[in-house]
Amino acid sequence: VGRDLEVSRLRANLAKGVDTLLVGPPGSGKSHLLGLLVGAKVIHLAGLAPARLAVLQLAHELHRHGVGLADTTGTAAVELPNHPVHPSAMDGSVPAPSAPPGSDTGSGADGDRLTDEPAAESFATVSKRFRRLSLPGWVSLILGNVTAYEWTLVIDDVSNLTAATAPLLRQLLTGFVVMAAAHRIRPAHEPLFWRFDRVQLHPLGPEDTRRLIRQTAAGATVEDAHLLETRLLQHSRGNPRAVVEFLARLRREPAITAAVVRDLNPPAVEPPGDLTPLVVVPVLALIALRFVARGLGDLELYVVAGVASAAAMLVRFLAFRGR
Ligand SMILES: Nc1ncnc2c1ncn2[C@@H]1O[C@H](COP(=O)(O)OP(=O)(O)OP(=O)(O)O)[C@@H](O)[C@H]1O
Ligand SMILES: [Mg+2]
Repeated sequence: VGRDLEVSRLRANLAKGVDTLLVGPPGSGKSHLLGLLVGAKVIHLAGLAPARLAVLQLAHELHRHGVGLADTTGTAAVELPNHPVHPSAMDGSVPAPSAPPGSDTGSGADGDRLTDEPAAESFATVSKRFRRLSLPGWVSLILGNVTAYEWTLVIDDVSNLTAATAPLLRQLLTGFVVMAAAHRIRPAHEPLFWRFDRVQLHPLGPEDTRRLIRQTAAGATVEDAHLLETRLLQHSRGNPRAVVEFLARLRREPAITAAVVRDLNPPAVEPPGDLTPLVVVPVLALIALRFVARGLGDLELYVVAGVASAAAMLVRFLAFRGR
């Protein structure tokens, strides 16, 4: 509902092979729109974490689409842990067997079948052969077996890139067109997305929100449809997930009476804000306090502030580990 412009831009970018980042707050409909992107050479991934699982899933999907996974670099057999990606793995010297015609029925992330004959070797056999391969080894194996930018990866959520998944994305970008969604991109990861076309999802306008409300409420018996629309319009503030969740909640009531609608409370659809300032500010305050204490010659305060700031940094470390 109400995303015609965004959908046509996404589809145009898919056709042209333009990397695209769909940006919008949680519940704004990013996954919903990415789900519409289907094609013969489109692979859907829920995310990149854990990295090894994502890479194996990608390899599996390619295998399912008839891409052979041959060891083009000769490194697989002697693969060491953390072996760097071999540059020659990216020159595409071994063209991938293209998917047979008639397979353009598209495939969702739900692992639906393809009609063409399965690859001779099962993926289990292939992955067994490469079971000792490191993560970078798998990535170069994949990149060595696909023609650059022939395939599109649709990645549902890249909001929380980590020290493991950010480099993975960087590598995948050397061989795949990527269409991804995120509710935010950390400044540290911005450079990864420089070549991406950004599509921003704004809240739905009132007319589209009403349409979504009517569509989602279809089939339910509503005592006061006008009240329902007005209330949901107010509470959802154009967020499609809010509409969907409000109505799911209402449908669990024995009947959607006017009284029930009036009692609605807005659900929490906002993400938890960035908590970093909450920790950084006290730490800075404590450090300042130490200088004050030293200036005043107050040894006790100096020690206490020192211990407290160490404790605060430990908290910060624990709280933000892996983010
Ligand atoms: N334009 C739309 N028309 C109809 N339904 C929509 C639309 N956008 C979103 N929805 C519905 O709203 C709900 C939330 O959307 P979705 O999961 O795509 O949000 P999201 O942006 O991916 O959120 P998150 O950041 O949490 O992943 C889903 O049930 C989806 O089907
Ligand atoms: Mg989503």
